Amino acid sequence: MAVETPCIDSLKKDIIALKEKRGAAIMAHYYQTPEIQDIADYIGDSLALARIAATLPNEVIVMCGVHFMGETAKILCPEKIVLEPDSEAGCSLADSCPADEFKKFVESHPDHTVISYVNTSAGVKALTDVVVTSGNALQIVETFDKDAKIIFGPDRNLGNYINSLTGRKMILWDGACHVHEKFSIEKILDLKKRHPQAEILVHPECTAPVRMLADKTGSTAVLLDYTRKSKAKEFIVATESGIIHQMRKECPDKIFIPAPPADSTCSCNECSFMKLNTLEKLRDCLCDMTPAVEVDEEIAVKARRPIEKMLELSPVK
Ligand code: 13P
Ligand code: SF4
Repeated sequence: MAVETPCIDSLKKDIIALKEKRGAAIMAHYYQTPEIQDIADYIGDSLALARIAATLPNEVIVMCGVHFMGETAKILCPEKIVLEPDSEAGCSLADSCPADEFKKFVESHPDHTVISYVNTSAGVKALTDVVVTSGNALQIVETFDKDAKIIFGPDRNLGNYINSLTGRKMILWDGACHVHEKFSIEKILDLKKRHPQAEILVHPECTAPVRMLADKTGSTAVLLDYTRKSKAKEFIVATESGIIHQMRKECPDKIFIPAPPADSTCSCNECSFMKLNTLEKLRDCLCDMTPAVEVDEEIAVKARRPIEKMLELSPVK
């Protein structure tokens, strides 16, 4: 068992004491560092984090993830204080879809239903009919008639994936995640040569050629669940490498190999925004009660409807 340094131990003690003092719940996405995942009260994919936030009794929520996750929690719980350890933790995918440009896109397709991925700003959600996550996008799109006119934003890869599964022709916003677009087919195939029994797990934000290599495509929670149930002993994981911490914890007898990005010598692919959060910043935000997420009230009211619609359309099974 790894021996933790006294410094980390005392940081954790401070965080737990502050959490109790504030009556806070700490939530973490699977892409957070292992030490943040381990101290969190709730850990999940973006769908689970939204669902849990909506029902928490705590007055204070600390969202260890990226800004759109904090915004979603604040929109669902406007009376609560939602803290984020680092307010600079953004998302390249959300940034690829500015609300003013998305508004023009929506206005140029007046008779279309607007479906937006949760990785968007509150301003984009306010222009949306129903929000989806990678965990429920297929299920929610399929609630609409086969020939329904739909625009889908901002992730072209997730949108293409849903179009290919359903035979639909949703009109896609041309956005993408800089982390998931960086996986290299050559490097994944090279890993597969060295681990022929390994199954390849792919997040739907990856490009179509990478998805074609997949034994399983799904959200972080779907991939985690698959590793629990699969008979395979080895997995090549093509999503942000933070998820591997939970996979190893839950299946210690299995081997998880991170898929590397194309353009670097690093062996795994990390989201620099997710990794801005640290234990120190988590302690400081609980101590200072800042940075707190704020959403313009008018936008929050409009953005809440499509998030609630998503929760209605994807009840917990
Ligand atoms: P999940 O929906 O799998 O949590 O993914 C969120 C995300 O940001 C993927 O990059
Ligand atoms: Fe955004 Fe990509 Fe980071 Fe997910 S991995 S938070 S989509 S930048």
